[in-house]
Amino acid sequence: MISTHFVPSVYSHQKKEGKVTWKAPSNIALVKYWGKKENQIPANPSISFTLDACATTTTVSYKKLENRSPEFSIDLFFEGKPKEDFRPKIESFFNRIEPYLPFLKEYIFIVETSNSFPHSSGIASSASGMAALALCLMSLEKELNPEMSSDFFNQKASFLARLGSGSACRSIEGDLIQWGEHKEIIGSSDLFAIKYPFKVHSVFKNYFDTILLVDKGQKQVSSSVGHNLMHNHPFSEKRFKQAHVNLKGLQSVFEKGDLDKFIEIVESEALTLHAMMMTSLPYFMLMKPNTLNIINKIWEFRKATNTHICFTLDAGANVHVLYPENEKDVVFQFIKDELVVYCEEQQYICDRIGFGAKQL
Ligand code: DP6
Repeated sequence: MISTHFVPSVYSHQKKEGKVTWKAPSNIALVKYWGKKENQIPANPSISFTLDACATTTTVSYKKLENRSPEFSIDLFFEGKPKEDFRPKIESFFNRIEPYLPFLKEYIFIVETSNSFPHSSGIASSASGMAALALCLMSLEKELNPEMSSDFFNQKASFLARLGSGSACRSIEGDLIQWGEHKEIIGSSDLFAIKYPFKVHSVFKNYFDTILLVDKGQKQVSSSVGHNLMHNHPFSEKRFKQAHVNLKGLQSVFEKGDLDKFIEIVESEALTLHAMMMTSLPYFMLMKPNTLNIINKIWEFRKATNTHICFTLDAGANVHVLYPENEKDVVFQFIKDELVVYCEEQQYICDRIGFGAKQL
């Protein structure tokens, strides 16, 4: 199904060659996207903090061909070296977005990418990677149509990034980003992400996320396999409804700065995500013993200190430890003293809420 809104009419300008670089951040979901329909349509709405330090930088160099080519012409480099492994994913991305960027077979592209986080960290780079690539391609489209507004630019970048990886559509802007139709969120859409449109208390403007690398290996379950497990899952319908309820619940949390309720929703979302994987067929256990050790330590510390430290998880064993800025000294000390021992090679990444992608 083609979304005609993003199909361009005739371009007013031409561009022979050029080069553009974008740095796009990763994001961490508070209400999780898990389960999707055809064409990268999410089964439920989600919301995330945009991150700052974890990011992908992508440079796209392009040169117009004499004649339109029957195939895509793309050279891929990762951290300075040719990277053929990326080709199937990038080509399937180009195939999906071609109806919206009809010039893709008219150019030869060189795509050079690098990540700010270590290659084998268990941190997914598809969100930041697809967002950075979508933005580079949008920069080329803007050369062809300079009248394009910045709102449209961002919205279409999010729309295209979604077709590469769902969560990537939440990595264009900051700082609190919502994706997926929700009847009470004005402007929400399954096709692209939006900035959260309601009031957000200042405590959520400066949140910290220390990512504890419990398992730096490759993901045990790819997200496409994971999303598929939600088809015919015995609890999926209830889960999708719950995401709507949790998103609604966050509205007053964000407005009032209600940290206790924030913790309850965020931790419940993380555990539900993992519960879905444990109860699908085939079933998966993506937590490691140290994931649980960390969670228990966080709960003990929170109780003992009345701080607002909490955790969330992606589809893996690593733990994102979330806390507000005014508690950062005491919480970070605790992380270093008591949690880092559970990390593989004692490795962790210090990150915080960020404000979106930047053109370099
Ligand atoms: C657990 O965005 O990686 O991180 O659309 O198949 O690329 P694809 O999936 P992906 O799924 C992310 C799942 C999650 C939750 C989230 O980020 O909302």
